[in-house]
Amino acid sequence: MKKGFLLALSKSDQPTLSDPIIEEEGSKNTTDEKLKVTKAKPKPIVPKLKLKKGEKLLCEDYTNGSEDVPISVVNGVDQEDIPKIAYHVSRYTEIPRLGLELIKSQEICSSCTCTDGCLDPKKCKCQIKSEDRYYDLKQFNNMIHIKPTYYKEGKLEEKIFSGIYECNKNCKCREDCKNRVTQNRINIPLQIFKTKEIGWGVRTLIDIPKGSYIATYSGQLMTDEQVLKFKLDNDGKYPDEYNVYLSDLVIAINSAQNAPVPRNNVFLLDASKSGNIARFFNHSCEPNMFAQYVFMDTHDVRLPEVAFFAKRFILAGEELCWDYGYEPGTIPDREMVCKCGASDCRGRLL
Ligand SMILES: C[S@@+](CC[C@H](N)C(=O)[O-])C[C@H]1O[C@@H](n2cnc3c(N)ncnc32)[C@H](O)[C@@H]1O
Ligand SMILES: [Zn+2]
Ligand SMILES: [Zn+2]
Ligand SMILES: [Zn+2]
Repeated sequence: MKKGFLLALSKSDQPTLSDPIIEEEGSKNTTDEKLKVTKAKPKPIVPKLKLKKGEKLLCEDYTNGSEDVPISVVNGVDQEDIPKIAYHVSRYTEIPRLGLELIKSQEICSSCTCTDGCLDPKKCKCQIKSEDRYYDLKQFNNMIHIKPTYYKEGKLEEKIFSGIYECNKNCKCREDCKNRVTQNRINIPLQIFKTKEIGWGVRTLIDIPKGSYIATYSGQLMTDEQVLKFKLDNDGKYPDEYNVYLSDLVIAINSAQNAPVPRNNVFLLDASKSGNIARFFNHSCEPNMFAQYVFMDTHDVRLPEVAFFAKRFILAGEELCWDYGYEPGTIPDREMVCKCGASDCRGRLL
């Protein structure tokens, strides 16, 4: 059998919840010392804040300095204040509460030995893994046509359904290698604003080139079993407005014959109480961002990170939206009209 999803997840490296996280102190190898990357990280340009007529500045930085740029909050629509949440830069908050240990064993979380800043995708084991996973999943899913791309100058042109494997803590390369994009903090100046019809939204204060990394969804990691239990305890009601499910890959792999990934333990990120700016991204049927699964310190297919990239060139001032991909009618007794305003709006979100 060809190496790939089936083999990668068979027997010994089948995801389990018991493997401990091993933090390897000082594991960052400096064999690429010779290269001595001198280029300093470019400082993000933050334009001077200009308020529109009737707009009130509610907060200069919603992130309390946790990102590389401040994210302001304005309201020019009504008197509502911005909901306060615990702001988290990292995507999985409160993992210990779940009693979940991320899988980080050498077999399931492979790494590269590059000393050239991971410039050669044919030699970098992490980029090779991304390509292998693409072809594994392509066998099972005829819908995927595009060839896998790599980050080019830190940009991703198109969504890669099978996920991207970024360099991780076990890699020998440095933290500025070309295969590390979404592990950086948000560095595009964004602004949270009150929309006329759909609550809060996010807009960009600068032009964003196509393929740029924007942000990664952050929230409390939960299992669908926990959600089910909550619903049973609360008359079927569960506040799911800020939930993002991480199940697409698991479902795709399961749809393949003899797929070995267990259906149980489907995870989701719940940003209702803690998270980052991504919880304010609204849905559009004609979105200017796409959501990309990315793997880093765990390669467990059930636990990707959800990173947002610019689908096209985005002009300063535009609202940032992605396609939630909900299917109307899938949640009984729930209907939500889509107010994205796109010319080809599908009409219903739920
Ligand atoms: C993840 S939140 C987005 C931020 C939200 N607008 C807020 O004020 O916090 C998702 C919720 O925003 C609203 N929403 C987002 N996009 C929408 C759209 N295209 N049409 C209608 N409501 C939308 C819905 O209430 C949805 O449940
Ligand atoms: Zn590499
Ligand atoms: Zn690597
Ligand atoms: Zn729509």
